[in-house]
Formats: sequence, structure tokens, C-alpha cells
Amino acid sequence: MTGRLEDKVAIVTGGASGIGRAICQRFGQEGAKVVVADRNIAGAEETLTLMGATPENAAMVDVNISDSFQVERMVDAAVTQFGRLDILINGAAILIRTPPLVEVDEVLWDLTMETNVKGVFLCCKHAIPAMTVNGGGSIVNISSMSGVRGVGYSVPYAVSKAGVIHLTTVAASQYTSQGVRINCIAPGGVDTPQMRGSTASAEAFAGRNEGHPMGRVGTADEIANLVLWLASDEASYVSGSTYIIDGGAWAGAQ
Ligand SMILES: NC(=O)c1ccc[n+]([C@@H]2O[C@H](COP(=O)([O-])OP(=O)(O)OC[C@H]3O[C@@H](n4cnc5c(N)ncnc54)[C@H](O)[C@@H]3O)[C@@H](O)[C@H]2O)c1
Repeated sequence: MTGRLEDKVAIVTGGASGIGRAICQRFGQEGAKVVVADRNIAGAEETLTLMGATPENAAMVDVNISDSFQVERMVDAAVTQFGRLDILINGAAILIRTPPLVEVDEVLWDLTMETNVKGVFLCCKHAIPAMTVNGGGSIVNISSMSGVRGVGYSVPYAVSKAGVIHLTTVAASQYTSQGVRINCIAPGGVDTPQMRGSTASAEAFAGRNEGHPMGRVGTADEIANLVLWLASDEASYVSGSTYIIDGGAWAGAQ
């Protein structure tokens, strides 16, 4: 039986951890050739091990997505090793809890924008030409519910994630006609190192399950399933959209 991404070549930024890692594993199971792209090399190696990767079906690239030269090198590495680029998943991001807006350190604002917005911009900028040369591809940007409705714990993060949603819409308006579908997902809480690290305490983490319509936060595998569908040809008529995936939390809060 052939996989849903058989022989497609995919770059997954943030592939060393959490949601990005789950996407790498899922894509590998579905027959994709996967480039695990992250600045956390030890984590990226662990992802390759968990995938049971071989040089024929997976590779890793050490990249800081805020650096244009490094991002260009990442795309070149994927094309050189696997011959083409079909899929880009923009998963890498940082979440730094901040005090209310007046007390937010400018440095944290800049760092968050450099990573979460400029990083996604640069990855799209360098990946799109590598896709259009072969007739197109699929990009999935990972925003957050913070970017849809704002959250109290980090102004820079929420604004950066709103930027990712707009970047998706504008980019789709420019490149869908050239065969590149560009979509976005906005997850609610997902149990990953980022979420545990940004939640004030173990009690606060447990508290996130209370009041949720499903009584729990999401898993990285559940997010990977939506990303898989968007990346695959099954979503051939989908572009410029943002999908909320939060287990009904937002609907339940209204
Ligand atoms: N976990 C959640 O609750 C949640 C909710 C909504 C959205 N998200 C989003 O999902 C995505 C994945 O989140 P996660 O929870 O798996 O996070 P994570 O912290 O577990 O993984 C993020 C990865 O991005 C990498 N990274 C960060 N900055 C980088 C840079 N400049 N260059 C290269 N790599 C970099 C990190 O090394 C890490 O491996 C992020 O975009 C995050 O904002 C997460």
C-alpha cells in the first residue's frame, strides 16, 4: 500500500521537538522523504532515530530560521539530497511568557518577531521558488489560537501568531495560481515541551484540562493528522485557509 505522501519531499522546521517531531514521524510513515530542520541538533537526531530514518528517506539540517543565508542553505540541502521540494511545514517558533504590555522588554518583542514571523517569511521566501520550478507544492504554517483571539500571557507571541495567519493569506493570494497551496493551522493547547515550559507550574498545566470540552489539551499526534491532510493531495482545493484545532475549546468558551 502506498502512503499518502509517497515520494514527496518535505521540510519540517521545528522537527526536533513536540508538534514538529510528531509531523516528521507521521510524514515518514506516509512515505515522505523528510528533512528535519531545527537549531536543536540533538533533538533533530532523536527525531531521526524515532522515525527509524535511513539516508534514503530522511535527513536533518541545522538551521536558524531567522537567518536568510541558513534558510537558503536548508532548502538547497533538501533539493540536493532528494531532488525536489514538495512540502514545507513551518513549525519552529518560540513562546516566551511576558508581563503585561507596558513591562514587555523590547528585546523579547524583537526576538519573538525575528523567529515567529521573519522565520516563517524567510522559509516561504526560499522554499516557494524550489516548489514552483516543479509545478507547485504545499505549505502549512503553524500559528496558534493566541493569534486568533489573543492571550494574556504574551503580547509578542500572540501578535506574532496573528502575523503568521495574515502572512498565509497574502502568500496564498500570490502563489496559489502558481500551484503552491498555502494554509495555516491554529492549535489550542497541545501537550509539548513548549507548552509545559510556558505554563507557570505543574498545577497550572493540570488546570488547563479543567473546563475544556474534552477535558484535556491536544496531543502532538492529533495536530500532525491535520497537517498531514493539508500537506497531502487530499486537500487539493484548499489554499489560503486557517484551521482552528482546539478540541472545541473556543466554541465552548463562547
Ligand atoms: N504546544 C502548544 O500548546 C501550541 C499551541 C499552539 C501553537 N503551537 C505552535 O506549534 C509549533 C510547535 O510548538 P511545540 O509546542 O511543538 O514547540 P517546541 O518548543 O516543543 O518545539 C519548537 C521547536 O522549534 C525550534 N526552534 C525555535 N526557534 C528556532 C529557530 N530560530 N530556528 C530553528 N528552530 C527553532 C526549537 O528548537 C524546537 O525544536 C510552534 O509554532 C508553536 O508556536 C503550539
